[in-house]
Amino acid sequence: MDNRPIVSLAQAKSISKKHGVPIYIYKKGIIKRQYELLDSAIKYPNKTIYYSCKANSNPEVLRYLKGLGSSIETVSPGEIEKALKAGFRPDDVSFSCSSISKEELISVAKKRVIVHLDSLKQLEWWGEEKLGREVSLRINAGFGAGNHEHVITGGPDSKFGIYVSDISRAKKIAHNHNLVINGLQQHIGSNILDEKIFMKGAKLISGIAKEFPEAVRIDVGGGLGIPYKSSQKPLDVKKMGSALTKLFRELSRSFGKQIEMSLEPGRYLVAEAGGLLVKVVDIKRTPGHLFVGVNSGFNHMVRHAMYGSYNHVYNLSRPEAPRRRALVVGDICESADVLAEQSIPMPEIGDLLLFADIGAYGYSMASDYNSRPKPVEVVIP
Ligand code: LLP
Repeated sequence: MDNRPIVSLAQAKSISKKHGVPIYIYKKGIIKRQYELLDSAIKYPNKTIYYSCKANSNPEVLRYLKGLGSSIETVSPGEIEKALKAGFRPDDVSFSCSSISKEELISVAKKRVIVHLDSLKQLEWWGEEKLGREVSLRINAGFGAGNHEHVITGGPDSKFGIYVSDISRAKKIAHNHNLVINGLQQHIGSNILDEKIFMKGAKLISGIAKEFPEAVRIDVGGGLGIPYKSSQKPLDVKKMGSALTKLFRELSRSFGKQIEMSLEPGRYLVAEAGGLLVKVVDIKRTPGHLFVGVNSGFNHMVRHAMYGSYNHVYNLSRPEAPRRRALVVGDICESADVLAEQSIPMPEIGDLLLFADIGAYGYSMASDYNSRPKPVEVVIP
């Protein structure tokens, strides 16, 4: 996390006057900073960054990332639609999804985007329906990582990908349908702060790739983390970049051709660029807790309720007030409606609070539960 909120009190007041609160605010400058940090850290010449738009699919954010040179990763027909609308060419869009119907797979194939097939069944359908000669496979190499069990997407407990022990069956299916496996993809999990863990996954998939001599692209997934707390050590993206470069140089040497490296970061590019601005509307005490009620709820920001996540709370109106441990709660009729539990400068009714680092998995996970509308979004320079 940055040490300062993405907007000052004056900016927050003018935004709230113009658009109202609650509101998601995204700062382009931070997206650019993050994109350039990652892009410059990987010196390997043939790499593609597929921004994972499940993190934030705001149209202006998508167009901005496209302008920075990003490609885009999608997981649903709806995301493909948003990507194409934002101006990405089908070649620059990748797709992977588990548990989809044959009909959905066919409709996605018709969009001519890059598809990483997630199961043996999907591979069979691809062959039977003659959806294209070249295919890429999402592999579960048996290894997962992440900061919460819900965000680990590799290993025997994960529903994702073709399990490493099924590779020979996958090859047989491909052979029977005369398909060429020209790419492999994996995503081991999310919010990884240790580059050694990320590299362990990248090395595993690169090792597996050697069984696929026709491969031209290896996608090492996303999962690059950000420090939500000031006590956390940020991911050493430079170290990760040079380790990836070294790995892909070796891989290219052993293949006798330059292999394309692709990555699918979501959070790393947009999380720190976003804040959720809310207003304090009520304050209550019980013998157990101080409850600070805001005009939002877990329908707007579910990360704490769902994963116990920490998103730092700034009291923009009263930053110097004595700090008190509080539960910041919303207007949803559930006891789980807690957006944060932390020590914050003691607010008063009417104060503006800003949840930090919520540019990823904030609005994109919002709903209108309790028939309360989603917040508005605004993009600032
Ligand atoms: N690629 C695939 C196939 C994925 O499933 C994901 C995330 C990504 C890339 C991007 O991961 P990232 O770079 O953003 O970590 N809602 C959770 C995170 C769930 C991530 C799901 N998949 C949260 O709020 O922390």
